[in-house]
Amino acid sequence: MNPFAGRVALVTGGASGIGAALGAALVAAGARVVLADIDHAGASNHAGALTQNSSGSGTASAVSLDVTDRAAFARVVADAVQQHGRLDYLFNNAGIAVIGNTLNMAPSDWDRLLDVNVRGVVHGIEAAYPVMVAQPEQAGFRGHIVNTASLAGLLPVPGFTGYAMTKHAVVGLSVSLREEARRHRVRVSAVCPSVIGTPMADTARVLGEEGLLIDRVGRPTWLPDADYCASKALAGVRRNKALIPVTASAHIGWRLYRLWPGLLRPVTRRMARELAPVPERH
Ligand SMILES: NC(=O)c1ccc[n+]([C@@H]2O[C@H](COP(=O)([O-])OP(=O)(O)OC[C@H]3O[C@@H](n4cnc5c(N)ncnc54)[C@H](O)[C@@H]3O)[C@@H](O)[C@H]2O)c1
Repeated sequence: MNPFAGRVALVTGGASGIGAALGAALVAAGARVVLADIDHAGASNHAGALTQNSSGSGTASAVSLDVTDRAAFARVVADAVQQHGRLDYLFNNAGIAVIGNTLNMAPSDWDRLLDVNVRGVVHGIEAAYPVMVAQPEQAGFRGHIVNTASLAGLLPVPGFTGYAMTKHAVVGLSVSLREEARRHRVRVSAVCPSVIGTPMADTARVLGEEGLLIDRVGRPTWLPDADYCASKALAGVRRNKALIPVTASAHIGWRLYRLWPGLLRPVTRRMARELAPVPERH
């Protein structure tokens, strides 16, 4: 059974990368998708292309949303419900990254990470969870909240310390809310990809004078793309998994860390050296 056909899905960060790919896969599966992004032009262009190329009943529309704006998020959810009658899926996917030595983090870096990656998810839950709890069940559930966390939400990632903090928060929020929401027949999942080839590699803020991350560690010759990530994420959503690691390295890294945390120490030490080098002392 296709659990997405005819369903209503709101995807934040839907203009680019993983969010854009989630939107495309959901439209292809016959969902009515609202792409919400701070980049309204990008979301509109993508929604237009998806609707035009849709061979089935799937549709896409776009809305401007800064997830850090609680009232705006509430309005976007209310509008989606008014237009489509219900909200079956909320993909809290918008996110940003800050990379580098924690000594170089400015107060504004911490604030921005917390505002977008944590409060942005909280605002989505505040707006959508009560709507889902109150709406009638369809095919055994009332709604599904899917938060894009990261492998950095499951294990230590030096050089991404602030980012990892926010993604651990998203994992903790997701697995705890999942247990509360179960009795309302609302589902909650966290998607935990390892590195995916998206524009984030170029848009992430790199701290200090360390230069571009790519310059220091080299551009990988191959990375799984956003379409692969979206298809794995939706497969996990279909099976109502609590945590959805994406890529073999995410599965292996997460399991190894749970079983034997010390085994990853050589990797994390190397990452600390390369991504968060000690500033030279003069
Ligand atoms: N790319 C990776 O390697 C990777 C790995 C693990 C997790 N993730 C997570 O996946 C999610 C999507 O990342 P991506 O790689 O597709 O990045 P991306 O940069 O391609 O897309 C992020 C989207 O979020 C939007 N956005 C940023 N701030 C926003 C805000 N305040 N309000 C609304 N929209 C906002 C951007 O405009 C953009 O369209 C993020 O949460 C990211 O942390 C990415």
